[in-house]
Amino acid sequence: MCGIIGYTGTANAIPKMMKGLSVLEYRGYDSVGIAAERDSQIQIVKCKGRIGALEEKLRDHPIEDCHCAIGHTRWATHGGPSDKNAHPHRIGAVTLVHNGIIENYKDLRSSLAAKGVNFLSETDTEVAAALINDCFFHLSDPVASIREAIEMMKGAFAFGILFEGYPGEVFAVRRGSPLILAHGSDGYYLASDMTALLPFTKEYYALKENQIVRLSSGGAKIILSDGSKVTPEWKITTMTPESAQKGGYSHFMLKEIHEQREAAVKSVSPRIDKNGLPDFSSDGIDKDFWKKIKAIQIVACGSAMHAGLVGQRMLEDLAKVPTTVHIASEFRYHPPMLPEGSLVVVISQSGETADTLAALRYAKENGVPTLAVVNAVETTIAREADRRIYTFAGPEIAVATTKGYCTQATVLWLIAAAIAHTTGKLDDARARNITQSLLKDVPAAIEKMLKLENQYHKIARNLINHEHVFYIGRGIDYALSMEAALKLKEISYIHCEAYAAGELKHGTISLIEPGTPVIAICTEKELFEKTESNIREVRSRGAQVTLICREDLAIPADSADEIVSLPTDSDEATVFAAILAIQYIAYETALLLGCDIDRPRNLAKSVTVE
Ligand code: AGP
Repeated sequence: MCGIIGYTGTANAIPKMMKGLSVLEYRGYDSVGIAAERDSQIQIVKCKGRIGALEEKLRDHPIEDCHCAIGHTRWATHGGPSDKNAHPHRIGAVTLVHNGIIENYKDLRSSLAAKGVNFLSETDTEVAAALINDCFFHLSDPVASIREAIEMMKGAFAFGILFEGYPGEVFAVRRGSPLILAHGSDGYYLASDMTALLPFTKEYYALKENQIVRLSSGGAKIILSDGSKVTPEWKITTMTPESAQKGGYSHFMLKEIHEQREAAVKSVSPRIDKNGLPDFSSDGIDKDFWKKIKAIQIVACGSAMHAGLVGQRMLEDLAKVPTTVHIASEFRYHPPMLPEGSLVVVISQSGETADTLAALRYAKENGVPTLAVVNAVETTIAREADRRIYTFAGPEIAVATTKGYCTQATVLWLIAAAIAHTTGKLDDARARNITQSLLKDVPAAIEKMLKLENQYHKIARNLINHEHVFYIGRGIDYALSMEAALKLKEISYIHCEAYAAGELKHGTISLIEPGTPVIAICTEKELFEKTESNIREVRSRGAQVTLICREDLAIPADSADEIVSLPTDSDEATVFAAILAIQYIAYETALLLGCDIDRPRNLAKSVTVE
């Protein structure tokens, strides 16, 4: 997704812009630019390509002695990657950067063009700049112009804006796309997310919907839609520049795979009471809340949805609560059954995924209680849900989620145990077994699986020369297979499909030919016999089989070409060990193929457009 940064203060703004933009690269982009205000003149330098291209332009045309600037990394939506479509965009007195999508930009563009506005780009952003400028022409006041213009806009936006005639001031507003303000010793900042500001300060404020902000070296004023002013309640982030850096690992993804040991503990330990029982009171959720739940609709995208599939299994197996999992972008269109006693659980690492946010808003409009399982704090989904449970995984930079997915699954597992224990389906002893297993066996299992790097590398060597790979599994292993397939696809670009093992013979087995890689997952003992017969089916057609399975299974020697053994200290340990293995196999495969592991092509870390 696009990334915004802005600064005004006593320091030179350009080095800050370049540093912040380099941190925002992880969001995925294809063009980049800055606008610098100096002696009331606003200069724009922008281009298609990576930050290096912008640095080259700035070397040719250096901007000295500038203390107020905005910057942008663009992930193309309206209009392909090009110099003219890059941000910032300037129309009249307004220069602007934008993250989001103005859905009614075509109508606005037509009416503005009819007034004589001459558009240079194909973007919705330039239309937004023209609209604010048009309002400014009538109102001659930046805040009033922004307020009037956003009333006419439909869709999501976070804007950073410079106005001619307002030297040293940066204006901003957001609706549906995130925007963080920050206060440093040398001035004030804004950015799409806190990681971009960590090099400068830890004091931040998450701007709320439709709040307009006016930054100057003297302070930050927040103006509400009714014109009243509020003072930012500055908070101190626990993130550190190091936590947003690679910490010695070759990729953020590898760092985050390794961080899962600690992340798993952090996600559950605050929710286990002194008696070892599930307890979400620190999240403002008591037993009465769990008791009222008669059905659960889980709604999410991508890996978050796959974590929901793991949660669904536990919610139904342990808590006997009918649970459905919906792809967020599909949720609103049937429309969904939301029977009395429903709880809509939205899952999101970034807390800004537009499809998931739209589903959350749909649930709230229909009067259904909502709970967000979210990683990034103070984000739109976190704020708008009735209740939220943070996964405490820490900043996740790699586009392909690992610790985000893992901690979503651990939290959902614990929620299932909490509901089951509250409603008497789990006694104290069994509930305590689960909490202790999540707290101790899971990190220990992850630790064990991290040591099998050479085996993952060997498996990856057998995958890189194939165009198609299949993951198969039954029960929860089918859910794990779906995440495994996505991980492999999104970072290695090898086509990979997850299949319910029992379904193969109903069609897909026609695709199996000599050498086709099939990876079977088996964490559930009672399902192994059937999965093993599916393995035999594909092997008899020449498939090359890797089996990721419990170490306590009696596996015939000719069952597979490669076997990854999973610890069996507990059911939880086995499942999360399998998760580690599928993530690491994807990582090693992409590494061998020389892919851009942390920033895969076409992908963004947070998809804030529908
Ligand atoms: C997963 O590796 C992908 N990056 C993607 O599927 C992601 O899980 C999905 O876009 C949802 O993002 P969210 O968790 O931030 O809402």
